[in-house]
Amino acid sequence: MKNRYAIILAAGKGSRMKSSLYKVLHPVAGKPMVEHVFEQIEPLNTTDIVTVVGYGAEKVQEQLGERSKYALQTEQLGTGHAVLATADLLKDKEGTTLVICGDTPLLTKETLTKLVNHHEQLNAKATILSAVAEDATGYGRIIRNDENLVEKIVEQKDASESELAIKEFNTGTYCFDNQFLFNALTKVGNDNAQGEYYLPDVISILKQQGEVVTAYTMGSEEESMGVNDRVALAKANQLMKKRINEQHMRQGVSFIDPDNTYIESDVVIGADTVIEPGVMIKGNTIIGNNCVIRSHSTIIDSVIGNHVEIKSSTIQQSNIGDYSDVGPYAHLRPHTDLKEHVHIGNFVEIKNASIDNGSKVGHLTYVGDATLGKDINIGCGTVFANYDGKNKHHITVGNHVFIGSGTILVAPLTVEDNSMTAAGSTITKDISKNDLGIARSRQENLKNYAKKLPYNK
Ligand code: UD1
Ligand code: MG
Repeated sequence: MKNRYAIILAAGKGSRMKSSLYKVLHPVAGKPMVEHVFEQIEPLNTTDIVTVVGYGAEKVQEQLGERSKYALQTEQLGTGHAVLATADLLKDKEGTTLVICGDTPLLTKETLTKLVNHHEQLNAKATILSAVAEDATGYGRIIRNDENLVEKIVEQKDASESELAIKEFNTGTYCFDNQFLFNALTKVGNDNAQGEYYLPDVISILKQQGEVVTAYTMGSEEESMGVNDRVALAKANQLMKKRINEQHMRQGVSFIDPDNTYIESDVVIGADTVIEPGVMIKGNTIIGNNCVIRSHSTIIDSVIGNHVEIKSSTIQQSNIGDYSDVGPYAHLRPHTDLKEHVHIGNFVEIKNASIDNGSKVGHLTYVGDATLGKDINIGCGTVFANYDGKNKHHITVGNHVFIGSGTILVAPLTVEDNSMTAAGSTITKDISKNDLGIARSRQENLKNYAKKLPYNK
């Protein structure tokens, strides 16, 4: 195997996106496009990956970090000019160089591997990854000679009527013999409709030098799509969604309506879990086996155990243990840690709190900054008053505690094991083991008073 290098072109402004966010950082299935590209190149065992940055350079470098080297293209004068920006790092190397655009997020490592193998087996100096589409509008077209050999690439804006009818197009990914690439680049001019230095011109230059130039035509037109505007971005998201959901289905996850279920790329889901329509699962979420994620739930960066049921709830940076259930309409905010067999019911908000096995928070409750023990029952309408306007304070509730409905627990506070509060109490003092905390005024009934009211007929 030859030494392998890769260049990711990511310096263009992306003006067609009409965005303040730099094009290659627009997410597809929750992950920046350039990250998708990078991840598919990594398995090719390259010695170096060089990313060409320009617009928003720091942001791209933040994204890829030290996994890539960087070349700065200060002025965006075209894709050929962009590759030349890597000359200091690469031009003297011997081997195969893969050039890929940062805006083709759907290309897979399998396709890239086939491209590189094809190139190396034919001992070509350049190999274009091409694809065929009924309508190749926007792409550079592959021009072949009478013997069906690749001659050159013509850009949309420079193409004649007959060239525009060609269905085989340039995906923007290529393999080159590294030294031939840099040599040919010095000969690329900018006499074209866009006044740019086109990388595709290297193809005709090498061809005219009598070198072997080929195209590897991939089967899937969709996989090759380049994202230049928001319409294409939406399409790419749709295609990626389909790919991700199908992968999960093959691993044993059931989807009621995969077209309407949105799962980001890095999510892990166990077998026999069922996902209902309208669910979004994002970030680094891991879901176990035999769970049911019911409609209209959003789960972000969370770890869900096995046999968990989530109903129409929002869950962020939280852990949920086995056999627990949440919702409908619950909101688990960051650092909620539910152990096993925990029940969280409707209209419950929890933040920065752990709740141990078997405890229940059934309805209309806020729990914040708290540690709750095992087998607790929190009555309806309980509020953990954790904030005094300046600082947040902690509340600890022991095992087997019964909190009566409508209790306000004012932090800081400790409610010991096996104790209880009376419904409607505002608890400001610690409660010892086995005690009842009651803090409400005694009721008085005024005889026949209600008769005075006008609507008492
Ligand atoms: C390019 C190809 C076209 C191909 C299509 C596939 C050229 C001239 N055309 O067109 O044949 O069909 O991709 O999607 O190459 N970039 C830079 N610096 C620049 C210009 C661009 O780094 O000065 C980067 C962009 O960030 C982008 C990539 O190169 O990631 C491609 O540029 P783009 O403007 O999207 O080219 P296309 O018009 O799509
Ligand atoms: Mg493009």
